[in-house]
Amino acid sequence: MKQKLDEIKTQSLKAISSAGDPATLESLRVKYLGKKGELTGLLKQMGSVSEQERPVIGRLANSIRQMIEDAISQRSAEIKKDLLEKKLCEEALDVTIPGKSAPIGKKHPLYIVWDEVADIFISMGYSIEEGPEVELSDYCFTRLNTPVGHPARDRQDTFYLTEQEDICLRTQTSSVQIRVMEKTKPPIRIISPGRVYRKDEVDATHSPMFHQVEGLVVDKGITMGDLKGTLNTLMKGLFGPQVVTRFRPHHFPYTEPSCEVDVQCFECRGKGCRVCKNEGWIELLGAGMVHPKVLEGCGIDPDVYSGFAFGIGIERLTMRRFNIQDLRLLYENDVRFLSQF
Ligand code: DAH
Repeated sequence: MKQKLDEIKTQSLKAISSAGDPATLESLRVKYLGKKGELTGLLKQMGSVSEQERPVIGRLANSIRQMIEDAISQRSAEIKKDLLEKKLCEEALDVTIPGKSAPIGKKHPLYIVWDEVADIFISMGYSIEEGPEVELSDYCFTRLNTPVGHPARDRQDTFYLTEQEDICLRTQTSSVQIRVMEKTKPPIRIISPGRVYRKDEVDATHSPMFHQVEGLVVDKGITMGDLKGTLNTLMKGLFGPQVVTRFRPHHFPYTEPSCEVDVQCFECRGKGCRVCKNEGWIELLGAGMVHPKVLEGCGIDPDVYSGFAFGIGIERLTMRRFNIQDLRLLYENDVRFLSQF
């Protein structure tokens, strides 16, 4: 009997200490201490034990029952603690994990260049003016010394909104020059970026809608030297200090003298290559000294004041700046292209 009790003790304690969950523990309790359990079963046989031995065995059996109960409650507490720890681990919130970021768009390359140009001019004390895209032909042409009959006003080139051709989509931001001079007294120092429209077929270098930045300075004693210094500052700001510029005589109705400004080809350094179509130079903008007739038409005395003006195609600048070969890429909104900038 004693030996059996010892066996139950070792077996049960071993089983209890390796039980891994509350259900197993409960089944062990039933197995040893339950009504039909092993220990209970053994105690039912107490009748067969001799009188002297009975108290000894009885005490032993009770102490084993106690041991089993203690072991069960200790193990139960351990299991509960383990389960809680496991649960806490699984549900832990790691505040150091990087968040899931929503994809954020990027600035369009045209607007990168637009903003760079604006920053350079703002740093030189210019302010930014806006003008309407639907414009009076008067502002777009006539008052820029471009009378009726001039080829720039041809229906082939310009989108008119009326039969009389007195309202059009502006073909150049130069119209803003007139609007500014009309309402402001010199000194004037402005740029005006915006959209312009021409009846052009779409190809690698043309689009019926594109962007320009107009510039206008009017003050006493403004010379071509000021124009050159200003545009060289712009080119250096955009393309770096090593950029080489060339001012080439040209004609615009609203400037006298007029010029076009080229930069030396970045690819071949003036030798001639595919990028510059063997010219060695890349044309970037038109400029000149504001025509006295234009000043006069806006009520500014050309004997007192002089000024310079320029107009730059932003697409062309952007294509040079980022080495983009086809203008259409700027309008197709393909994120694979746009995400590179
Ligand atoms: N408006 C011209 C164009 O669209 C560019 C231009 C040339 C603007 C000379 C000017 C200027 O202000 O003085 O090609």
